Amino acid sequence: MKKDIGVSLPVYPAPCFVVAAYDEEGRACGLMAAWGGVCCSEPPCIAIGVAKTRHTLGGIMARRAFTVNISSEQYLAEADYFGLASGRDRDKFADTALTPRRGDLVDAPLIEEFPISFECEVVHSADLGSHTLLVGKVVKTWAQEDCLDGTGSPDPVKVRPLIFAPRRATYYALGGEVGRAYSAGKKFQQ
Ligand SMILES: Cc1cc2nc3c(=O)[nH]c(=O)nc-3n(C[C@H](O)[C@H](O)[C@H](O)COP(=O)(O)O)c2cc1C
Repeated sequence: MKKDIGVSLPVYPAPCFVVAAYDEEGRACGLMAAWGGVCCSEPPCIAIGVAKTRHTLGGIMARRAFTVNISSEQYLAEADYFGLASGRDRDKFADTALTPRRGDLVDAPLIEEFPISFECEVVHSADLGSHTLLVGKVVKTWAQEDCLDGTGSPDPVKVRPLIFAPRRATYYALGGEVGRAYSAGKKFQQ
């Protein structure tokens, strides 16, 4: 039986992106964002939803740039802190001892310790209500070498990405492989 649970967003799993930028004073800042995901393959783009009240939004809009950093389980507390404190009154990089490293191609810092980072140029923005939708064109992708598989792609088991469950305010870990894409459905092909 399926039940109407009201309009809400238990989109499981939601990512744990730490989105980083330089604020209007040039300080590295950032926030946790679970509202986001890939939205185009060519050009490669990631969309995020950032509430208008967030300190980080001003820096992103001023510089038209941000980075998306995928948190690993190891940095759960640091990533969560980026979702708790505001860059208006805290330096979250200093507080967590995470390293902001200037992007090669965009005016935004990436987080050195996190396994995967994307440098993004803002190519679209739209006021959706509480949140501003930002579409970032990915101009560079970074991955820690020890997270790569034999073909040079990040291996999810090695990345150990944090996963967030909205409504439950809880982080989860990724489970194991359960099937092959573009393949498991072939049994229904005539
Ligand atoms: C798990 C989690 C997910 C979050 N997702 C978002 C999000 O998608 N968009 C957003 O604007 N804020 C989100 N937040 C809240 C911000 O990260 C939080 O308000 C942060 O302190 C804002 O920092 P800032 O003012 O320095 O930009 C999330 C917080 C947590 C803990």
